[in-house]
Amino acid sequence: MASTAHFTLDPAFSVGEVDARLFGSFVEHLGRCVYTGVYEPGHPSADAAGLRGDVLALVRELGVSVIRYPGGNFVSGHRWEDSVGPVDERPRRLDLAWHSTETNRFGLAEFMDFAGKAGAEPMMALNLGTRGVREALDLQEYANHPGGTALSELRRSHGAKEPYGIGLWCLGNELDGPWQTGHKTAREYGRLAAETARAMRQLDPSVELVVCGSSNQAMATFAAWEAEVLLETYALVDHISLHAYYEETDGDRDSFLASAVDMESFIENVVATCDHVGARLKSGKRVTLSFDEWNVWYQSRYEPPAGDTWDEAPRLLEDAYSVTDAVVFGSLLIALLRHADRVSVACLAQLVNVIAPIMTEPGGAAWRQTTYFPFQQASRYGRGRVLQVAPDSPTYPTRKYGETDLLHATAVRGDDGSVTVFAVNRSTSEPLPLEVSLRGTGVREVVEHSALHDADPDARNTLTDPERVTPRAQLGTVLSGDRLRTTLAPLSWNMIRLA
Ligand code: AHR
Repeated sequence: MASTAHFTLDPAFSVGEVDARLFGSFVEHLGRCVYTGVYEPGHPSADAAGLRGDVLALVRELGVSVIRYPGGNFVSGHRWEDSVGPVDERPRRLDLAWHSTETNRFGLAEFMDFAGKAGAEPMMALNLGTRGVREALDLQEYANHPGGTALSELRRSHGAKEPYGIGLWCLGNELDGPWQTGHKTAREYGRLAAETARAMRQLDPSVELVVCGSSNQAMATFAAWEAEVLLETYALVDHISLHAYYEETDGDRDSFLASAVDMESFIENVVATCDHVGARLKSGKRVTLSFDEWNVWYQSRYEPPAGDTWDEAPRLLEDAYSVTDAVVFGSLLIALLRHADRVSVACLAQLVNVIAPIMTEPGGAAWRQTTYFPFQQASRYGRGRVLQVAPDSPTYPTRKYGETDLLHATAVRGDDGSVTVFAVNRSTSEPLPLEVSLRGTGVREVVEHSALHDADPDARNTLTDPERVTPRAQLGTVLSGDRLRTTLAPLSWNMIRLA
């Protein structure tokens, strides 16, 4: 047994209010995320629009607040006009990003229908790879202008009489990445993003805009890219994007379990860069962060479709997540919550089948991956004000991050005075005793301690065994006076609810 970890919660010391948009996700035209994922006409559960009812039910239960669409790398070759109007007249196109054929049978109207039924806000990504200001404006007018102009009337003729009212827009995707169709230098992108933002605000000053930051913290241009892009766009945008994916490499599970160390430093470095630019510009404005792609992704296992095959909705990036992956995933969620003062949007990439919490079989079942549960619990109970947590924790050695705390934790105080602690024990072998002093929170009882762990750290849910891993009630968590005492199982994600 490791020595005891401690921290103190005091409502007088908080980080900030959780924006509901922290619990967003992402639907890209990639593999089977759309086709046979969210959309499968003819599936026994499909509604008249072809949306899978079993998937919609799981998405609603997951508690997704915002959904980014239609990509990702896909968007940088996308022509939005292909995705509207009568389905049978939509063109089939090559998708260079994922070496696939895009049928466009699912497009803007279908996505808006899906987002509405899922109870989520749309977050629309624009193509600033192969396209520019004109096409961004056209899409904005088509989607949001009430009527009386060619593009708004075109939308109305397509059946959408009311404007879609899309408020949140991404100015392109990962344009710092050489893999991106239409990849740009920071100067080229900064100028294009600024002019696109300026023009979009001419159409509607209230739009909320996300400018592209780096594709990850390891990019050679990281931080310089952010600084140069923000110098062009600071006054015109609201948020800057961050993307990060983590995987276990070289059998180094200890470092993998500490992935949130990298995520937290990434967030803090982007905040520092934003504020540096703000200071240089003598601006009182604060740009916030849109962590609009994050997850565990076994990227090193990805094999791009080979040769001449341009399949429709091929099986791509269908990672099956283990208990270990779910613990790292939960820790990434904790990292986002711990920075709720600056992270105002976050999107779990992605939602269905593609590095996703929900999996489906064409014509068959839908099931929850291990990563589904931390997200669902955090989205449901992680609303309110994040309290400061400065843990005093035993540590363990990692190759990538040096000595690292075994405990990673955060706590959220709801409007009703309840407190929910989310905590991860990174030890692969030892239980971790934990004591929390709850100074002034006024909580009196433990409502629930739910834990995700398993004797087999590689256990996963599959089509044939879809409920192999689920969170279970953890006994022995005690509140006496203002002191909470519990033990976190080895390699576990935990949610402790206090009222
Ligand atoms: O989510 C998968 C891909 O990862 C996205 O298309 C891209 O933006 C990122 O590199």
